[in-house]
Amino acid sequence: MTVTAPHPTESPSSPLVVDTRRHLLAVGDLDRDQIVELLDLTDTFVEVGRRAIPKVPALRGRTVVSLFFEDSTRTRLSFDTAAKRLSADTMSFAVSSSSVNKGESVRDTIETIEAMGIDAVIVRHRSSGVPAQIARWTNAVVVNAGDGWHQHPTQALLDAYTARSHLGDLAGRHIAIVGDVKHSRVARSNIEMFSALGARVTLVAPPTLLPPDTGAWDVQVSHRLDPVLPEVDICYLLRMQNERMTEALVPTLREYTADYGLTSERADLLGPDALIMHPGPMNRGVEIASEVADRPNAVITEQVANGVAVRMAVLFMLLGPGRHLAQLPEEAP
Ligand code: CP
Repeated sequence: MTVTAPHPTESPSSPLVVDTRRHLLAVGDLDRDQIVELLDLTDTFVEVGRRAIPKVPALRGRTVVSLFFEDSTRTRLSFDTAAKRLSADTMSFAVSSSSVNKGESVRDTIETIEAMGIDAVIVRHRSSGVPAQIARWTNAVVVNAGDGWHQHPTQALLDAYTARSHLGDLAGRHIAIVGDVKHSRVARSNIEMFSALGARVTLVAPPTLLPPDTGAWDVQVSHRLDPVLPEVDICYLLRMQNERMTEALVPTLREYTADYGLTSERADLLGPDALIMHPGPMNRGVEIASEVADRPNAVITEQVANGVAVRMAVLFMLLGPGRHLAQLPEEAP
């Protein structure tokens, strides 16, 4: 992904090769400078969001499609809001009311939608790799809105933005990612994101909720939460993902909460400036106590709010006229 990306109507050089400069499929598509540039650009769109009319004409004439094959509240609504605030036309696809239910394939679905004229497609799917596959079938820009256990790059961007807005430069900061790492695309994306920004990551989980390849990752691992909490700048909690579990990996949720839940007593072990983060949706009373989720240092709704501005920055970078924001008129007419 670069600001000098070719026009979205240009084809990739080979149908077998995905041009990661045109799409946002994974955090690894971005180097550190590009991440920082996106986070800086997000500041501008946060400011746009505070205006009486929170809209700019940057993507007028462009069409952005949301193609969600898996449930979503935050990501789908915030991409839709982001596209509208950039004055793009939007199309929304809900699999439950589509011809996918009549057996239409993903490829035929994307080719059908593309025939209507689109510039970007936001894809969520329960299977890893589907957004990359779609990028081979369409000339539109593809943004991964979450694929299986693999990646959720805009979640990692909004998390980094939220963390940076409280803590400043994340270099040297210590972040605990706690819970169901094994099934989590958010964990995989955030490990890459926080590491790229110079932070240190400790994964905290029982062995059954960690993937076997953590040795290849630039992380530390702990099976105990209590000793880690006083040392971290951010306690990032993951959702227990029952829908992705095919076997019983914890004895009971009650025992999981007893060992790994951020209870009120555990939250008191955090330093006074430490942040509590969660990508949502939360299981209150499981990975996070309800009272803890509502503490002032829990920035969970702020993460959601920043998601709109981050996604405006991503769409602007991929589809817009470039980084020259001075050219942006104050408001859409
Ligand atoms: N964090 C996140 O991706 O939430 P949704 O599933 O509601 O989009």
